[in-house]
Amino acid sequence: MTDKIDITLRINGRNHAIRVEPRKTLVDAIREDCALTGTHIGCEHGVCGACTVIVGDEAIRSCLMFAVQARGKPIRTVEGLAQGNTLHPLQRAFMAHHGLQCGFCTPGFLMLTASVLEKNPDIGEEELLDVLSSNLCRCTGYQNIIKAVRAAQEEMKPKVAAD
Ligand code: FES
Ligand code: FES
Repeated sequence: MTDKIDITLRINGRNHAIRVEPRKTLVDAIREDCALTGTHIGCEHGVCGACTVIVGDEAIRSCLMFAVQARGKPIRTVEGLAQGNTLHPLQRAFMAHHGLQCGFCTPGFLMLTASVLEKNPDIGEEELLDVLSSNLCRCTGYQNIIKAVRAAQEEMKPKVAAD
């Protein structure tokens, strides 16, 4: 058995000092060692996007990254989207436009789209559809997810511009 090593993950602005095997995936460390279970695990091999989190300024699939690779990098998970009791515009828009049903895929879509809209607030229709097609949803048929992201995009624009 491989020796465990001590690492610190900085998630949503808080440090988590944990001890993990070098082969432990980031998603497992986030869920099991940091007790942040909002990030979901679906396929475990990079296909579904349910495990999407933001590391640095990139949306990544946390089932494809080892926890040790995320040392020292700022990590954002779905638990960090809301500000206190105020939901993030994307969270509100997903609710308002019925962008979720079972909710299994939702944290992944939220983190993916948060990253995309922060980096590219004026993203066009075609490019957005291309981005969204990278994550799987078995319930919604995608139309309401697209509507939700479009609605949040409008709301996020002035905020992004002001930052
Ligand atoms: S669980 Fe990571 S992409 Fe499916
Ligand atoms: S809401 Fe059920 S998988 Fe997307």
